[in-house]
Amino acid sequence: MILTEETHDLNGKNIVLRSARPEDAEQLITYLKTVTGETEFLECEPDEITLTKESETEFINDHTGADGKLIMLAFVDGEHAGNCSFHEIGRSRRYKHRVSLGIALYEKFTGMGLGKLMLGRMLEIVKEKGYEQAELTVTEGNEKAYHLYQSFGFTEVGRIPKANRYDNGTYAGHIYMVKYL
Ligand SMILES: CC(C)(COP(=O)(O)OP(=O)(O)OC[C@H]1O[C@@H](n2cnc3c(N)ncnc32)[C@H](O)[C@@H]1OP(=O)(O)O)[C@@H](O)C(=O)NCCC(=O)NCCS
Repeated sequence: MILTEETHDLNGKNIVLRSARPEDAEQLITYLKTVTGETEFLECEPDEITLTKESETEFINDHTGADGKLIMLAFVDGEHAGNCSFHEIGRSRRYKHRVSLGIALYEKFTGMGLGKLMLGRMLEIVKEKGYEQAELTVTEGNEKAYHLYQSFGFTEVGRIPKANRYDNGTYAGHIYMVKYL
């Protein structure tokens, strides 16, 4: 879906939220390569991001052309700061009430309330669209994300032990969380 550009104020900083556009493709590849290297809490290592401008453009177009998914970008004083996205968990009538959410910011834009702003806005959007529950996974140890999700009413419903295996041989589990909208 398309999110028309909207502006917010966050402690005096100008925040723009809008959906991704095809011309953002290269910027989004850079973002993915950077944020996956800045935290161990995302789903892969930076060298596993092998997207091309063409494949990323196709991915963006697929999101803007469909009703059940959105890539929301945030810009802080004009600089790309991070993304929050949702997609329907399934298209069948039995699954269509559920969405999966994800969020990741560049490290330099964490800790200033942007995650709270973006997640809050995303939850408004999915609720307005009639979805009944939002779901996400958070890696064990990601206290900031866990706290953020809890503060929006997500509750833990289960854990998958050893969901991540890191290159150094250590593991981390995943916590599954749900918020009923
Ligand atoms: C997780 C993430 C989205 C949170 O966004 P953020 O903008 O940094 O978070 P905010 O500044 O909005 O703060 C969120 C809350 O966490 C709290 N918090 C900050 N650090 C914390 C910590 N170490 N432990 C517990 N809570 C913490 C803040 O106080 C705030 O709570 P409050 O509003 O009750 O005071 C962001 O840090 C990020 O993108 N991290 C890297 C990628 C990632 O982990 N993504 C999530 C994958 S599940």
